[in-house]
Amino acid sequence: MPVTVIIGSQWGDEGKGKLVDLMSEDADVVARYQGGANAGHTICWGDGAEAKEFVLHLIPSGIFHEGTTCVIGNGVVLDPAAVLDEIEKIEALGYDVEGRLKISHNAHLIMPYHKQVEAAQEAARSEDSEDGAIGTTGRGIGPAYTDKFARRGIRVVDLLDPESLRDKLTRAIEEKNALLEGVYDVEPLDVDEIVEEYVAFDEQIDPYVTDTSQYLTRALSSGQRVLAEGAQGSLLDVDFGTYPFVTSSHPTAGGCCTGLGVPPTAVERAVGVVKAYSTRVGNGPFVTELHGEMGERLREAGGEFGATTGRPRRCGWLDLVALGYTASVNGFTEVAVTKLDVLSGFDELKVCTRYRLPSGEEVRRFPSEVETLRRAEPVYETLPGWDADITGARAAGALPTEARDYLRFVEEELDLTVGLTSVGPRRDQVLTGGTGEAAMAA
Ligand code: IMP
Repeated sequence: MPVTVIIGSQWGDEGKGKLVDLMSEDADVVARYQGGANAGHTICWGDGAEAKEFVLHLIPSGIFHEGTTCVIGNGVVLDPAAVLDEIEKIEALGYDVEGRLKISHNAHLIMPYHKQVEAAQEAARSEDSEDGAIGTTGRGIGPAYTDKFARRGIRVVDLLDPESLRDKLTRAIEEKNALLEGVYDVEPLDVDEIVEEYVAFDEQIDPYVTDTSQYLTRALSSGQRVLAEGAQGSLLDVDFGTYPFVTSSHPTAGGCCTGLGVPPTAVERAVGVVKAYSTRVGNGPFVTELHGEMGERLREAGGEFGATTGRPRRCGWLDLVALGYTASVNGFTEVAVTKLDVLSGFDELKVCTRYRLPSGEEVRRFPSEVETLRRAEPVYETLPGWDADITGARAAGALPTEARDYLRFVEEELDLTVGLTSVGPRRDQVLTGGTGEAAMAA
C-alpha cells in the first residue's frame, strides 16, 4: 500500500509544490494533509513567452496532471471562499477540477471571525513586546485549529445542512463577538452577513465533499499510488517546531496519517525537501540567519518573497543541525534538494554543522527551547562555491565539481541520499538519478 509523503524539512517554502507537481506524474492520488490557505505552492511551466506560473494555496499540487485525483484531507482547515476561487482560476486555465477534487467532509472551516481573532491576538502580542508577535499569515489558521481542538469547530459537512449551520454559526459568532469586543476592543462582526455568506456555500461545495479517508483506503487497497503533500515545514510543526513561533498543525510525517486517515504502515517513503540554503518568514529563532548584504543577496537571487503574503523572507546558510533533527523526527528515507542554482556565484558557501551554546559547548543536537536557540551561534564548515550557471544541467555529471561536492556533503552529514535536485523553477529544471557515479556519467 504505497504512500509517499513529501515533507518540508525547514521552515516551509522549500519548493514542495514543484516536487509534488513532478512526482504527480507517477501518482494516482495527491492529497494535502494539513494547514490551510497559509501555504503557497508555486508551479511553473513553459518557457519564454509561454511561461506560466500558478500559486496553489489549498488544492494539491497534482491538479495540473489530468490523470490524478486530488484530495483535501480532514487535517486541513478549509477556507471555502479561497478554495472556490482557486477552483475557478484553475478551471479557467482549462483543467478539469470538479471531476478530480475531493474535499473531506471532516475538514474544519475557516470563518471570517478566525481571521479577526488572529489579527487582534497578533496586535496584542506585538504590544506586549517588540518581537512577541508570531508573524502569522493572517489566514485564520491558529484560531480555526483552536476551535477544532476545543470541540466547537464547524466542519465542511455542516455546510450541507443550512438550517443547522445557521444555528451553529449564530452561536459561534455571538461568542466570538463577545471576545472581540470584550477582550480586544474590536468592532463586532455582522452575524446575518456571515450566516448568509456561508449558507450559500452549500451547493457550491457539495459536488466535492466526500469521506476522503474511506476513498483513500479504497484507493490504496486497489493498488493506487498516493502522494501525500505536506504544507509549511517541520520546524513550524506545533509539537516539533520552534514553539511558539510555529503554525498550528503537524507538517511532520505523522500529520499525514492523522490528516488523511491513512495507516502508518501504508507509508513507504518520506521525502524531505531541503532548500539548498535556509529561509524563514515570520518571527522566531533562526540560528544561521544572515543579516546585511549576504542575506540580501540570497533573497534577491532566490526571489525569497512570500508566495502568500509577499513578505520578504529571512535568509541564511544551510543548517545541518536543524536538518539532522527534522530528518530524525520524520524518518526521511531520502531528501530532495531545491534551488541549488541560487547558490551559483558565491566564492564560498558556509554550512552549519554544530551550534555553540552560551556555555561554550558545541552540540549537534537541535535545542528544543526557543531561548537556547536564540542564543546559539552557528559553527560553520566552509565549502568552495562555483560560478557557472547550472540551470541547464540535467544530471549530476553536468554540475561543477564544487556543486556536486556540496550535495555530497549534505548526503554525508545527513546520512541520506539526495534523490532529486532542482536547478530552476521550471518542471524540466531538475536532476534525477541522485549524485552517484551512474548519475554523473549520464
Ligand atoms: P500561520 O500558519 O499563519 O498561523 O503562521 C504561523 C507561522 O508559520 C508564521 O511564522 C508564518 O510565517 C509561518 N508560515 C505559515 N505558512 C507558511 C508557509 O506556507 N511557508 C512559510 N511559512 C509559513
